[in-house]
Amino acid sequence: MKKLFIKTYGCQMNVYDSARMADLLAPLGYGRTDVPDDADMVILNTCHIREKAAEKIYSELGRLKKLKDAKRREGGAMTIAVAGCVAQAEGAEILARQNAVDLVVGPQSYHRLPEMIAKLARGAGHALETDFPADAKFDALPENNAGVGPAAFLTVQEGCDKFCSFCVVPYTRGGEFSRPVAHVLAEAKDLAAKGAREITLLGQNVNAYRGPGTDGEIWPLARLIGALAQTEGLQRLRYTTSHPRDMSDDLIGAHRDIGVLMPYLHLPVQSGSDGILQAMNRQHTAAEYLRLVERVREARPDIALSSDFIVGFPGETDADFEATMSLVRAVGYAQAFSFKYSARPGTPAAAARKQIPDDVKDARLQALQALLSAQQDAFNAGCAGRILSVLFEKPGRKEGQAVGRTPYLQPVHADGAAPLIGRVVDVRIEAALPNSLKGVLTRTLEKVLVH
Ligand code: SAH
Ligand code: SF4
Ligand code: F3S
Repeated sequence: MKKLFIKTYGCQMNVYDSARMADLLAPLGYGRTDVPDDADMVILNTCHIREKAAEKIYSELGRLKKLKDAKRREGGAMTIAVAGCVAQAEGAEILARQNAVDLVVGPQSYHRLPEMIAKLARGAGHALETDFPADAKFDALPENNAGVGPAAFLTVQEGCDKFCSFCVVPYTRGGEFSRPVAHVLAEAKDLAAKGAREITLLGQNVNAYRGPGTDGEIWPLARLIGALAQTEGLQRLRYTTSHPRDMSDDLIGAHRDIGVLMPYLHLPVQSGSDGILQAMNRQHTAAEYLRLVERVREARPDIALSSDFIVGFPGETDADFEATMSLVRAVGYAQAFSFKYSARPGTPAAAARKQIPDDVKDARLQALQALLSAQQDAFNAGCAGRILSVLFEKPGRKEGQAVGRTPYLQPVHADGAAPLIGRVVDVRIEAALPNSLKGVLTRTLEKVLVH
Protein backbone atom coordinates (compact mmCIF):
# COMPACT_ATOMS: atom_id res chain seq x y z
CA MET A 1 0.00 0.00 0.00
CA LYS A 2 1.34 3.44 -0.90
CA LYS A 3 0.90 6.22 1.64
CA LEU A 4 -1.13 9.33 0.83
CA PHE A 5 -1.00 12.41 3.05
CA ILE A 6 -3.58 15.14 2.42
CA LYS A 7 -3.53 18.44 4.28
CA THR A 8 -6.79 20.36 3.96
CA TYR A 9 -7.13 24.12 4.37
CA GLY A 10 -10.21 26.36 4.05
CA CYS A 11 -13.86 25.52 3.78
CA GLN A 12 -15.91 22.33 4.03
CA MET A 13 -15.97 22.05 0.26
CA ASN A 14 -12.24 21.43 0.46
CA VAL A 15 -12.85 18.74 3.11
CA TYR A 16 -15.26 17.07 0.68
CA ASP A 17 -12.77 17.42 -2.18
CA SER A 18 -9.97 15.89 -0.08
CA ALA A 19 -12.12 12.84 0.66
CA ARG A 20 -12.93 12.52 -3.04
CA MET A 21 -9.26 12.77 -4.00
CA ALA A 22 -8.54 9.93 -1.57
CA ASP A 23 -11.34 7.86 -3.18
CA LEU A 24 -9.91 8.62 -6.60
CA LEU A 25 -6.41 7.49 -5.63
CA ALA A 26 -7.45 4.35 -3.70
CA PRO A 27 -7.63 2.19 -6.87
CA LEU A 28 -4.05 3.26 -7.59
CA GLY A 29 -3.02 1.67 -4.30
CA TYR A 30 -2.94 4.76 -2.06
CA GLY A 31 -4.23 4.70 1.53
CA ARG A 32 -4.41 7.80 3.76
CA THR A 33 -1.83 8.46 6.47
CA ASP A 34 -1.74 11.13 9.20
CA VAL A 35 1.87 12.23 8.80
CA PRO A 36 3.70 13.50 5.73
CA ASP A 37 7.13 12.14 6.76
CA ASP A 38 7.28 8.93 4.75
CA ALA A 39 4.30 9.53 2.44
CA ASP A 40 4.57 8.48 -1.21
CA MET A 41 2.21 11.25 -2.20
CA VAL A 42 1.44 14.53 -0.45
CA ILE A 43 -1.45 16.76 -1.47
CA LEU A 44 -1.90 20.25 -0.07
CA ASN A 45 -5.55 21.14 -0.65
CA THR A 46 -5.30 24.89 -0.31
CA CYS A 47 -7.49 27.91 0.44
CA HIS A 48 -6.99 31.41 -0.94
CA ILE A 49 -9.65 33.32 0.98
CA ARG A 50 -7.38 35.47 3.14
CA GLU A 51 -3.99 37.13 2.99
CA LYS A 52 -0.75 35.20 3.26
CA ALA A 53 -2.52 32.00 2.16
CA ALA A 54 -0.09 31.51 -0.71
CA GLU A 55 2.95 32.40 1.42
CA LYS A 56 1.94 29.78 4.01
CA ILE A 57 1.73 27.19 1.25
CA TYR A 58 5.19 28.11 -0.04
CA SER A 59 6.69 27.68 3.43
CA GLU A 60 4.89 24.36 3.89
CA LEU A 61 6.28 23.30 0.52
CA GLY A 62 9.77 24.25 1.70
CA ARG A 63 9.37 21.83 4.65
CA LEU A 64 8.01 19.11 2.38
CA LYS A 65 10.95 19.51 0.00
CA LYS A 66 13.27 18.48 2.87
CA LEU A 67 11.20 15.32 3.45
CA LYS A 68 11.17 14.61 -0.26
CA ASP A 69 14.97 14.99 -0.50
CA ALA A 70 15.49 12.75 2.54
CA LYS A 71 13.24 10.12 1.01
CA ARG A 72 15.10 10.26 -2.27
CA ARG A 73 18.46 9.78 -0.47
CA GLU A 74 17.05 6.54 0.90
CA GLY A 75 16.07 5.42 -2.58
CA GLY A 76 12.36 6.31 -2.27
CA ALA A 77 10.20 8.92 -3.93
CA MET A 78 7.59 11.45 -2.83
CA THR A 79 5.14 13.08 -5.24
CA ILE A 80 3.99 16.53 -4.15
CA ALA A 81 0.73 18.00 -5.44
CA VAL A 82 -0.83 21.39 -4.77
CA ALA A 83 -4.63 21.37 -5.15
CA GLY A 84 -7.46 23.76 -4.27
CA CYS A 85 -7.89 27.50 -4.59
CA VAL A 86 -4.23 28.59 -4.32
CA ALA A 87 -3.46 26.11 -7.11
CA GLN A 88 -6.17 27.77 -9.18
CA ALA A 89 -5.00 31.30 -8.41
CA GLU A 90 -1.24 30.78 -8.70
CA GLY A 91 -1.16 28.06 -11.37
CA ALA A 92 2.21 27.61 -13.06
CA GLU A 93 3.76 30.14 -10.66
CA ILE A 94 3.88 27.36 -8.05
CA LEU A 95 5.89 25.06 -10.33
CA ALA A 96 8.24 27.94 -11.08
CA ARG A 97 8.77 28.90 -7.44
CA GLN A 98 9.14 25.44 -5.89
CA ASN A 99 10.65 22.73 -8.04
CA ALA A 100 9.79 20.03 -5.50
CA VAL A 101 6.16 20.34 -6.67
CA ASP A 102 5.18 17.73 -9.26
CA LEU A 103 1.50 18.50 -9.80
CA VAL A 104 -0.74 21.57 -9.61
CA VAL A 105 -4.45 20.86 -9.88
CA GLY A 106 -7.36 23.29 -9.53
CA PRO A 107 -10.63 22.53 -7.67
CA GLN A 108 -12.48 21.70 -10.90
CA SER A 109 -9.81 19.44 -12.36
CA TYR A 110 -8.81 17.02 -9.63
CA HIS A 111 -10.66 14.14 -11.29
CA ARG A 112 -7.67 14.17 -13.65
CA LEU A 113 -5.21 13.29 -10.84
CA PRO A 114 -4.83 9.60 -11.81
CA GLU A 115 -4.06 10.58 -15.41
CA MET A 116 -1.62 13.27 -14.22
CA ILE A 117 0.15 10.79 -11.95
CA ALA A 118 0.45 8.32 -14.82
CA LYS A 119 1.96 11.03 -17.00
CA LEU A 120 4.41 11.87 -14.27
CA ALA A 121 5.43 8.21 -13.99
CA ARG A 122 6.13 8.17 -17.71
CA GLY A 123 8.58 10.97 -17.03
CA ALA A 124 6.57 13.59 -18.86
CA GLY A 125 7.57 16.30 -16.38
CA HIS A 126 5.44 18.50 -14.14
CA ALA A 127 1.73 18.70 -14.69
CA LEU A 128 -0.74 21.56 -14.43
CA GLU A 129 -4.55 21.34 -14.69
CA THR A 130 -6.66 24.37 -13.89
CA ASP A 131 -9.64 24.10 -16.23
CA PHE A 132 -13.23 24.81 -15.14
CA PRO A 133 -15.52 21.97 -16.27
CA ALA A 134 -17.29 21.25 -12.96
CA ASP A 135 -19.80 18.88 -14.59
CA ALA A 136 -17.05 16.74 -16.07
CA LYS A 137 -15.42 16.49 -12.65
CA PHE A 138 -18.49 15.14 -10.84
CA ASP A 139 -19.19 12.64 -13.63
CA ALA A 140 -15.65 11.33 -13.38
CA LEU A 141 -15.52 10.84 -9.60
CA PRO A 142 -15.89 7.36 -8.11
CA GLU A 143 -18.33 6.52 -5.27
CA ASN A 144 -17.54 7.69 -1.75
CA ASN A 145 -15.45 4.96 -0.22
CA ALA A 146 -12.75 5.81 2.24
CA GLY A 147 -14.29 6.33 5.66
CA VAL A 148 -17.88 7.46 5.26
CA GLY A 149 -18.67 8.54 8.82
CA PRO A 150 -22.03 9.13 10.54
CA ALA A 151 -21.93 12.78 9.42
CA ALA A 152 -21.05 13.20 5.75
CA PHE A 153 -20.64 16.08 3.31
CA LEU A 154 -22.12 16.15 -0.16
CA THR A 155 -21.28 18.93 -2.62
CA VAL A 156 -24.37 19.87 -4.65
CA GLN A 157 -23.37 23.27 -5.96
CA GLU A 158 -20.09 24.93 -6.77
CA GLY A 159 -18.83 28.33 -7.71
CA CYS A 160 -20.27 31.78 -7.35
CA ASP A 161 -21.60 34.54 -9.60
CA LYS A 162 -22.14 37.08 -6.83
CA PHE A 163 -18.80 38.88 -6.95
CA CYS A 164 -18.79 40.42 -3.51
CA SER A 165 -16.12 43.07 -3.86
CA PHE A 166 -13.78 41.50 -1.24
CA CYS A 167 -13.91 37.86 -2.31
CA VAL A 168 -11.73 35.58 -4.45
CA VAL A 169 -14.15 32.66 -4.70
CA PRO A 170 -15.74 33.60 -8.07
CA TYR A 171 -12.21 33.65 -9.50
CA THR A 172 -10.91 30.44 -7.90
CA ARG A 173 -14.03 28.29 -8.15
CA GLY A 174 -15.61 29.73 -11.28
CA GLY A 175 -19.28 30.42 -12.01
CA GLU A 176 -22.28 28.81 -10.34
CA PHE A 177 -22.88 25.19 -11.23
CA SER A 178 -25.52 22.83 -9.76
CA ARG A 179 -25.27 19.05 -9.96
CA PRO A 180 -28.22 17.18 -11.45
CA VAL A 181 -30.81 16.04 -8.87
CA ALA A 182 -30.51 12.36 -9.85
CA HIS A 183 -26.75 12.40 -9.15
CA VAL A 184 -27.24 14.03 -5.76
CA LEU A 185 -29.99 11.56 -4.78
CA ALA A 186 -27.81 8.61 -5.82
CA GLU A 187 -24.83 9.89 -3.87
CA ALA A 188 -26.98 10.47 -0.77
CA LYS A 189 -28.44 6.96 -1.01
CA ASP A 190 -24.95 5.53 -1.29
CA LEU A 191 -23.70 7.58 1.69
CA ALA A 192 -26.65 6.46 3.84
CA ALA A 193 -26.12 2.83 2.83
CA LYS A 194 -22.50 3.21 3.97
CA GLY A 195 -23.53 4.48 7.40
CA ALA A 196 -24.11 8.24 7.04
CA ARG A 197 -26.99 9.36 9.29
CA GLU A 198 -26.53 13.06 8.61
CA ILE A 199 -25.65 14.77 5.33
CA THR A 200 -24.58 18.38 4.98
CA LEU A 201 -25.23 19.68 1.47
CA LEU A 202 -22.38 21.92 0.42
CA GLY A 203 -22.03 24.80 -1.98
CA GLN A 204 -20.31 28.19 -2.00
CA ASN A 205 -23.86 29.44 -2.50
CA VAL A 206 -25.81 26.33 -1.73
CA ASN A 207 -29.19 28.05 -1.56
CA ALA A 208 -28.69 29.30 -5.12
CA TYR A 209 -28.90 25.61 -6.13
CA ARG A 210 -30.87 25.15 -9.36
CA GLY A 211 -30.27 21.62 -10.56
CA PRO A 212 -31.81 19.77 -13.49
CA GLY A 213 -34.53 17.65 -11.86
CA THR A 214 -35.70 14.11 -12.48
CA ASP A 215 -38.82 15.50 -14.21
CA GLY A 216 -37.07 17.82 -16.66
CA GLU A 217 -37.72 20.88 -14.48
CA ILE A 218 -35.13 22.96 -12.65
CA TRP A 219 -35.27 22.18 -8.94
CA PRO A 220 -34.47 24.73 -6.24
CA LEU A 221 -32.73 23.65 -3.03
CA ALA A 222 -35.99 23.30 -1.05
CA ARG A 223 -37.28 20.72 -3.52
CA LEU A 224 -33.98 18.84 -3.46
CA ILE A 225 -34.11 18.77 0.35
CA GLY A 226 -37.68 17.46 0.22
CA ALA A 227 -36.59 14.57 -2.01
CA LEU A 228 -33.44 13.85 0.04
CA ALA A 229 -35.52 13.71 3.22
CA GLN A 230 -36.95 10.41 1.89
CA THR A 231 -33.50 8.74 1.78
CA GLU A 232 -33.63 5.50 3.74
CA GLY A 233 -31.52 5.58 6.89
CA LEU A 234 -30.94 9.33 6.74
CA GLN A 235 -31.99 11.13 9.93
CA ARG A 236 -30.57 14.61 9.51
CA LEU A 237 -30.00 17.12 6.74
CA ARG A 238 -28.11 20.41 6.79
CA TYR A 239 -26.88 22.82 4.12
CA THR A 240 -24.21 25.49 3.98
CA THR A 241 -23.28 28.23 2.95
CA SER A 242 -26.28 30.38 2.14
CA HIS A 243 -26.52 33.88 0.75
CA PRO A 244 -29.32 36.12 2.10
CA ARG A 245 -30.37 37.00 -1.45
CA ASP A 246 -31.20 33.35 -2.20
CA MET A 247 -33.14 32.62 1.01
CA SER A 248 -36.39 31.90 -0.82
CA ASP A 249 -39.89 31.39 0.64
CA ASP A 250 -39.89 27.66 -0.15
CA LEU A 251 -36.56 27.18 1.61
CA ILE A 252 -37.81 29.05 4.67
CA GLY A 253 -40.93 26.85 4.51
CA ALA A 254 -38.75 23.73 4.42
CA HIS A 255 -37.50 24.63 7.90
CA ARG A 256 -41.10 24.44 9.11
CA ASP A 257 -42.21 21.39 7.12
CA ILE A 258 -39.28 19.00 6.86
CA GLY A 259 -38.50 17.28 10.14
CA VAL A 260 -35.06 15.96 9.21
CA LEU A 261 -33.87 19.44 8.22
CA MET A 262 -31.93 20.56 11.29
CA PRO A 263 -32.80 23.86 13.01
CA TYR A 264 -29.53 25.55 12.17
CA LEU A 265 -28.81 28.17 9.53
CA HIS A 266 -25.49 29.71 8.57
CA LEU A 267 -26.52 32.97 6.91
CA PRO A 268 -23.53 35.29 6.50
CA VAL A 269 -24.31 39.00 6.70
CA GLN A 270 -20.72 40.39 6.79
CA SER A 271 -21.76 43.85 8.03
CA GLY A 272 -24.68 45.67 9.63
CA SER A 273 -24.09 48.94 7.77
CA ASP A 274 -26.04 49.59 4.57
CA GLY A 275 -23.22 51.70 3.11
CA ILE A 276 -20.69 48.93 3.68
CA LEU A 277 -23.09 46.23 2.46
CA GLN A 278 -23.49 48.22 -0.73
CA ALA A 279 -19.73 48.71 -1.15
CA MET A 280 -19.35 44.97 -0.61
CA ASN A 281 -21.91 44.32 -3.38
CA ARG A 282 -23.93 42.09 -1.05
CA GLN A 283 -27.20 43.18 -2.72
CA HIS A 284 -29.30 43.54 0.43
CA THR A 285 -29.72 45.95 3.34
CA ALA A 286 -29.43 45.31 7.07
CA ALA A 287 -33.22 45.70 7.45
CA GLU A 288 -33.84 43.11 4.72
CA TYR A 289 -31.53 40.71 6.53
CA LEU A 290 -33.30 41.26 9.85
CA ARG A 291 -36.66 40.68 8.18
CA LEU A 292 -35.34 37.39 6.76
CA VAL A 293 -34.19 36.30 10.21
CA GLU A 294 -37.62 37.11 11.57
CA ARG A 295 -39.33 35.03 8.86
CA VAL A 296 -36.98 32.07 9.37
CA ARG A 297 -37.77 32.24 13.09
CA GLU A 298 -41.48 32.33 12.42
CA ALA A 299 -41.07 29.13 10.39
CA ARG A 300 -38.82 27.42 12.94
CA PRO A 301 -38.83 29.25 16.28
CA ASP A 302 -35.90 27.33 17.79
CA ILE A 303 -33.57 27.79 14.80
CA ALA A 304 -29.95 28.51 15.72
CA LEU A 305 -28.37 31.21 13.60
CA SER A 306 -24.79 31.63 12.53
CA SER A 307 -23.00 34.18 10.37
CA ASP A 308 -19.70 35.44 8.98
CA PHE A 309 -18.53 39.01 9.61
CA ILE A 310 -15.80 41.14 8.13
CA VAL A 311 -14.51 44.12 10.13
CA GLY A 312 -12.36 46.90 8.70
CA PHE A 313 -13.70 46.77 5.15
CA PRO A 314 -12.34 49.81 3.22
CA GLY A 315 -14.16 52.97 4.34
CA GLU A 316 -15.74 51.38 7.44
CA THR A 317 -16.33 54.16 10.00
CA ASP A 318 -16.96 53.81 13.73
CA ALA A 319 -20.65 54.33 12.98
CA ASP A 320 -20.61 51.55 10.36
CA PHE A 321 -18.98 49.23 12.85
CA GLU A 322 -21.51 50.22 15.50
CA ALA A 323 -24.26 49.24 13.03
CA THR A 324 -22.72 45.78 12.84
CA MET A 325 -22.73 45.53 16.64
CA SER A 326 -26.41 46.56 16.74
CA LEU A 327 -27.33 44.00 14.11
CA VAL A 328 -25.60 41.30 16.17
CA ARG A 329 -27.49 42.43 19.28
CA ALA A 330 -30.76 42.38 17.33
CA VAL A 331 -30.25 38.86 15.94
CA GLY A 332 -28.61 36.97 18.81
CA TYR A 333 -26.36 34.36 17.20
CA ALA A 334 -25.71 30.83 18.43
CA GLN A 335 -22.33 30.85 16.75
CA ALA A 336 -20.36 32.99 14.27
CA PHE A 337 -17.09 33.56 12.46
CA SER A 338 -15.49 36.98 12.22
CA PHE A 339 -12.49 38.15 10.26
CA LYS A 340 -10.40 41.23 9.67
CA TYR A 341 -10.77 42.41 6.10
CA SER A 342 -7.79 41.37 4.05
CA ALA A 343 -7.15 42.84 0.63
CA ARG A 344 -7.16 40.12 -2.02
CA PRO A 345 -5.26 41.08 -5.18
CA GLY A 346 -7.54 41.27 -8.19
CA THR A 347 -10.73 41.97 -6.21
CA PRO A 348 -12.38 45.42 -6.51
CA ALA A 349 -12.15 46.26 -2.78
CA ALA A 350 -8.39 45.73 -2.75
CA ALA A 351 -8.02 48.83 -4.92
CA ALA A 352 -10.22 51.01 -2.67
CA ARG A 353 -8.51 54.09 -1.26
CA LYS A 354 -9.75 54.08 2.30
CA GLN A 355 -8.05 50.97 3.67
CA ILE A 356 -8.45 50.68 7.45
CA PRO A 357 -5.33 50.60 9.68
CA ASP A 358 -4.59 47.28 11.28
CA ASP A 359 -4.89 48.52 14.88
CA VAL A 360 -8.43 49.74 14.17
CA LYS A 361 -9.33 46.38 12.62
CA ASP A 362 -7.86 44.62 15.67
CA ALA A 363 -9.90 46.70 18.13
CA ARG A 364 -13.13 46.19 16.16
CA LEU A 365 -12.53 42.46 15.81
CA GLN A 366 -11.94 42.16 19.52
CA ALA A 367 -15.14 44.02 20.41
CA LEU A 368 -17.20 42.01 17.92
CA GLN A 369 -15.77 38.68 19.03
CA ALA A 370 -16.44 39.50 22.69
CA LEU A 371 -20.09 40.15 21.85
CA LEU A 372 -20.42 37.05 19.64
CA SER A 373 -18.80 34.78 22.17
CA ALA A 374 -21.06 36.13 24.94
CA GLN A 375 -24.04 35.28 22.72
CA GLN A 376 -22.66 31.82 22.03
CA ASP A 377 -22.10 31.21 25.74
CA ALA A 378 -25.65 32.33 26.49
CA PHE A 379 -27.06 30.06 23.79
CA ASN A 380 -25.11 27.08 25.14
CA ALA A 381 -25.97 27.86 28.75
CA GLY A 382 -29.64 27.93 27.74
CA CYS A 383 -29.32 24.28 26.68
CA ALA A 384 -28.26 23.08 30.13
CA GLY A 385 -30.96 20.89 31.66
CA ARG A 386 -32.61 20.21 28.30
CA ILE A 387 -32.85 16.87 26.55
CA LEU A 388 -31.46 17.12 23.03
CA SER A 389 -30.97 14.53 20.32
CA VAL A 390 -27.32 13.89 19.57
CA LEU A 391 -25.73 12.10 16.63
CA PHE A 392 -22.61 10.47 18.05
CA GLU A 393 -19.84 10.70 15.49
CA LYS A 394 -16.55 9.58 17.03
CA PRO A 395 -14.76 8.48 20.21
CA GLY A 396 -13.98 11.18 22.76
CA ARG A 397 -10.68 11.74 24.55
CA LYS A 398 -11.63 9.64 27.55
CA GLU A 399 -12.07 5.85 27.40
CA GLY A 400 -15.66 4.93 26.55
CA GLN A 401 -16.62 8.52 25.77
CA ALA A 402 -18.19 9.61 22.48
CA VAL A 403 -18.56 13.01 20.85
CA GLY A 404 -21.51 14.07 18.77
CA ARG A 405 -23.60 17.06 17.79
CA THR A 406 -26.96 18.45 18.80
CA PRO A 407 -29.49 19.65 16.19
CA TYR A 408 -27.95 23.12 16.75
CA LEU A 409 -24.50 21.81 15.78
CA GLN A 410 -23.05 22.14 19.29
CA PRO A 411 -20.45 19.47 20.12
CA VAL A 412 -21.50 17.21 23.00
CA HIS A 413 -19.44 14.62 24.84
CA ALA A 414 -20.96 11.86 26.93
CA ASP A 415 -19.32 9.16 29.02
CA GLY A 416 -20.09 5.57 28.13
CA ALA A 417 -21.59 6.54 24.74
CA ALA A 418 -18.87 4.94 22.59
CA PRO A 419 -21.11 1.98 21.57
CA LEU A 420 -23.64 4.52 20.26
CA ILE A 421 -21.40 6.03 17.59
CA GLY A 422 -23.47 6.30 14.42
CA ARG A 423 -26.76 6.68 16.29
CA VAL A 424 -29.04 9.58 17.13
CA VAL A 425 -29.97 9.37 20.82
CA ASP A 426 -31.52 11.56 23.47
CA VAL A 427 -29.01 13.15 25.79
CA ARG A 428 -29.58 15.25 28.87
CA ILE A 429 -27.32 18.31 28.74
CA GLU A 430 -25.68 18.63 32.15
CA ALA A 431 -23.45 21.62 31.62
CA ALA A 432 -22.15 24.06 29.05
CA LEU A 433 -18.35 24.07 29.00
CA PRO A 434 -16.31 26.65 27.05
CA ASN A 435 -16.11 24.64 23.80
CA SER A 436 -18.64 21.87 24.17
CA LEU A 437 -21.60 20.57 26.12
CA LYS A 438 -21.41 17.79 28.66
CA GLY A 439 -24.22 15.28 28.28
CA VAL A 440 -25.49 12.15 29.98
CA LEU A 441 -27.47 9.37 28.31
CA THR A 442 -31.11 9.43 29.34
CA ARG A 443 -31.48 5.65 29.15
CA THR A 444 -29.16 2.73 29.87
CA LEU A 445 -27.00 1.54 26.98
CA GLU A 446 -28.84 -1.80 26.92
CA LYS A 447 -32.17 -0.07 26.42
CA VAL A 448 -30.86 2.15 23.63
CA LEU A 449 -29.15 -0.71 21.84
CA VAL A 450 -32.27 -2.89 21.85
CA HIS A 451 -34.13 -0.26 19.79
N1 SAH B 1 -20.13 32.05 0.03
C1 SAH B 1 -20.08 32.42 1.36
C2 SAH B 1 -18.72 32.73 1.92
C3 SAH B 1 -17.50 32.08 1.45
S1 SAH B 1 -16.00 32.71 2.08
C4 SAH B 1 -20.95 33.66 1.54
O1 SAH B 1 -21.31 34.33 0.62
O2 SAH B 1 -21.23 33.98 2.66
C5 SAH B 1 -16.22 32.57 3.84
C6 SAH B 1 -16.07 33.87 4.57
O3 SAH B 1 -14.76 34.37 4.49
C7 SAH B 1 -16.94 34.99 4.05
O4 SAH B 1 -18.25 34.88 4.48
C8 SAH B 1 -16.25 36.20 4.59
O5 SAH B 1 -16.74 36.53 5.87
C9 SAH B 1 -14.80 35.76 4.70
N2 SAH B 1 -13.98 36.44 3.70
C10 SAH B 1 -14.03 36.28 2.37
N3 SAH B 1 -13.16 37.11 1.76
C11 SAH B 1 -12.55 37.82 2.74
C12 SAH B 1 -11.57 38.86 2.75
N4 SAH B 1 -11.06 39.33 1.63
N5 SAH B 1 -11.19 39.33 3.96
C13 SAH B 1 -11.72 38.86 5.11
N6 SAH B 1 -12.66 37.91 5.15
C14 SAH B 1 -13.08 37.40 3.97
FE1 SF4 C 1 -17.59 35.20 -2.03
FE2 SF4 C 1 -19.76 36.69 -2.02
FE3 SF4 C 1 -19.65 34.54 -3.55
FE4 SF4 C 1 -19.80 34.28 -0.91
S1 SF4 C 1 -21.35 35.19 -2.26
S2 SF4 C 1 -18.45 33.17 -2.28
S3 SF4 C 1 -18.61 36.00 -0.18
S4 SF4 C 1 -18.41 36.37 -3.78
FE1 F3S D 1 -10.99 28.86 0.60
FE2 F3S D 1 -11.50 28.12 -1.82
FE3 F3S D 1 -13.08 27.40 0.15
S1 F3S D 1 -10.67 30.06 -1.23
S2 F3S D 1 -12.90 29.08 1.57
S3 F3S D 1 -11.01 26.78 -0.13
S4 F3S D 1 -13.70 27.98 -1.87
